[in-house]
Amino acid sequence: MNSIGYVKIGNVSIPRTAALAPMASVADRAYRLMCKEYGAGYLVSEMISAKGLVYGDSKTAELCTIDPRERPMALQLFGEEAVFVGRAAAMLAPFEPDIIDINMGCPVPKIVGNGSGSALLKDPKRAAEIVRETVKNAGCPVTVKMRIGWDPEHINAVEFAKIIEDAGASALTVHGRTRTQFYSGTADWDRIAEVKRAVNIPVIGNGDVSNAKQCEDMYSHTGCGLVMIGRGSYGRPWVFEQVRHYLETGKLLPDPDVRERMRVMLRHAELTCGFKGERQGIKEMRHNFAWYIKGLRGASRLRGKSGELNTFEDLRAAAEEVIAANDGSEENG
Ligand SMILES: Cc1cc2nc3c(=O)[nH]c(=O)nc-3n(C[C@H](O)[C@H](O)[C@H](O)COP(=O)(O)O)c2cc1C
Repeated sequence: MNSIGYVKIGNVSIPRTAALAPMASVADRAYRLMCKEYGAGYLVSEMISAKGLVYGDSKTAELCTIDPRERPMALQLFGEEAVFVGRAAAMLAPFEPDIIDINMGCPVPKIVGNGSGSALLKDPKRAAEIVRETVKNAGCPVTVKMRIGWDPEHINAVEFAKIIEDAGASALTVHGRTRTQFYSGTADWDRIAEVKRAVNIPVIGNGDVSNAKQCEDMYSHTGCGLVMIGRGSYGRPWVFEQVRHYLETGKLLPDPDVRERMRVMLRHAELTCGFKGERQGIKEMRHNFAWYIKGLRGASRLRGKSGELNTFEDLRAAAEEVIAANDGSEENG
């Protein structure tokens, strides 16, 4: 059995398994807790608007709440003005984040249009100011999540990473895509490796890891301190257990059978409804349900009906239907 070891971000020790990537509107508290139950080593919140927080938006504050079971966990801020991000960092103190992460990778036009997210890749001076101001105001380590550049002609991951390190960041997450790629094409792990070689702070590798073998490949290809999984966890929180098991033993754990998948899905629904109430919770479970049944017999038909799921009982009945359709076989459907 191999010992997986730890990476240290400031004073925070994180097991070198896989971390869950921040995903706005997807990786909410229930989703994160599911991944944590399966051994995700580190969690990051959905991105939080620095301005929203400073101006007292109540929805924004809700995003900052950390369940003790989620630790170690980062709260992620986005913003384009150093003073706001700094003030927001100070306002996070009552929530006691283990780490504050700054989003410099979001490609969404609304965010980029305001000069935040991946727009900061084009303005390293401003990005550094934001980091300095955040470090000054945060009571915890500050990290940055970035992409490798704006577009293929402007790949500046190494220069940008060095600037961010000099500004006081304690670690960097690098998603190996450019802004203009959004989520298409493949993540360039060579660029992540270059950043890792160029800086002295831990680098978290991210992009296109969705199973245990790919996670090990990311570690060995890039030399990164930690690997982060986003979309590969859709409907598969057990991927984190599979990663840990593989890294520790070299043996692959199979995916759970259909009954277990449905049990996990309902546990996820219970948590979601507990936090958001049944009505909103089940509404939000519709896309999760579609992910949990992906690849199972009858999935496309059942996915088509997911808009009709309104109550926990509806979801339980749908789970029974999935089990019945897959009794003894798990073919693509
Ligand atoms: C639905 C969705 C929401 C996301 N929201 C955020 C976010 O709030 N903050 C952030 O830094 N990255 C966000 N990302 C990017 C992911 O954290 C990650 O970098 C990206 O999905 C690549 O990793 P993957 O290939 O493992 O999915 C989001 C991605 C998706 C698909």
